[in-house]
Amino acid sequence: MDVNGTAYRSIWLADDGRQVEIIDQTRLPHEFSVITLTTLDQAVTAIRDMQVRGAPLIGATAAYGFCLGLHQGTTDNVLEEVARVLVACRPTAVNLRWAVQRMLAVLLPLPEQDRLQTAYTEAAAICEEDVATNAALGGHGAELIRAIREKKGKNGPVNILTHCNAGWLATVDWGTALAPVFRASQDGIPVHVWVDETRPRNQGAHLTAWELVSAGIDHHLIVDNAGGHLMQHGKVDICIVGTDRTAASGDVCNKIGTYLKALAALDNRIPFYVALPGSTIDWEISDGVGEIPIEERDQDEVLVVQGLCGDKVDGVHIAPPETPAANPAFDVTPARLVTGLITERGICPASTEGLLSLYPERK
Ligand code: MRU
Repeated sequence: MDVNGTAYRSIWLADDGRQVEIIDQTRLPHEFSVITLTTLDQAVTAIRDMQVRGAPLIGATAAYGFCLGLHQGTTDNVLEEVARVLVACRPTAVNLRWAVQRMLAVLLPLPEQDRLQTAYTEAAAICEEDVATNAALGGHGAELIRAIREKKGKNGPVNILTHCNAGWLATVDWGTALAPVFRASQDGIPVHVWVDETRPRNQGAHLTAWELVSAGIDHHLIVDNAGGHLMQHGKVDICIVGTDRTAASGDVCNKIGTYLKALAALDNRIPFYVALPGSTIDWEISDGVGEIPIEERDQDEVLVVQGLCGDKVDGVHIAPPETPAANPAFDVTPARLVTGLITERGICPASTEGLLSLYPERK
């Protein structure tokens, strides 16, 4: 996507063909800075400390992190250790495991001397596929937005509510939940986005709002608790969110707070769609609530709010010093609350049958 007239992806190979460059998402929206990753350790830090985040981008970074790890050696033992270290970075987004398993499956059968070069080729393929996948799902999702616009006539823009950041920064490019919005906007459909700030890390305020400003798309930032009220008053036409892991049953795990939005949407008969690439489906899991591991992050993310103080980014402590915080980072929205899943292969009901109709090879 475009940043001040320059086309960017969220991750790319450096000119030397060895190092990897990322946008430091912990600095946005106040500072646009690029970090160069040279070692496996740096890739691990980037994922764990959320310099990169969003399920598809975590997978792409793990693929390139794998390449960086192979500079230490290319024996089976090194490959397995690199895989173990990467998979342990963050537990919920299944794209991490998916990307690492894909790298292992391609590399382990090869002679050791061919593994490093092939690793880079495979990581690049994962990134290219991510871009194509998200562009395709954006096209399918934009048709939903177009249909709402046609029904509304000239009664204002299509109002879309989204949670967390599922825009291009969460993927290699385009995004998941925001891909339909970017596409609809490019197609000339008037859209307006309600951006949940998404406590505690405020990915909505920091990242989604920044992406929408850059794309020139009309939006308002709202506190996480405002969505239900807006829905009751007819101000939301459709909700579109992303997912970090989709169970084979259609249950979706996404940023904490997504479940409450889905409940409010159902109560107000507002369509609630989840946009995802096939790499986010965990075919081994059918009970999302019972089986998807939920990441518990540091309590300081809840207790200390980051923002611009004067001209410097700083943290503000918001609770009594004695008060501890709990910080589950994701929740699961059961399939029965989801109107449909928007994938690169089309839109389907959130159910095993729905998913299998689009991915018949999984039968
Ligand atoms: O903790 P994060 O910022 O990695 O969480 C990201 C999300 O929850 C996104 O909505 C999700 O990855 C799907 S978007 C591509």
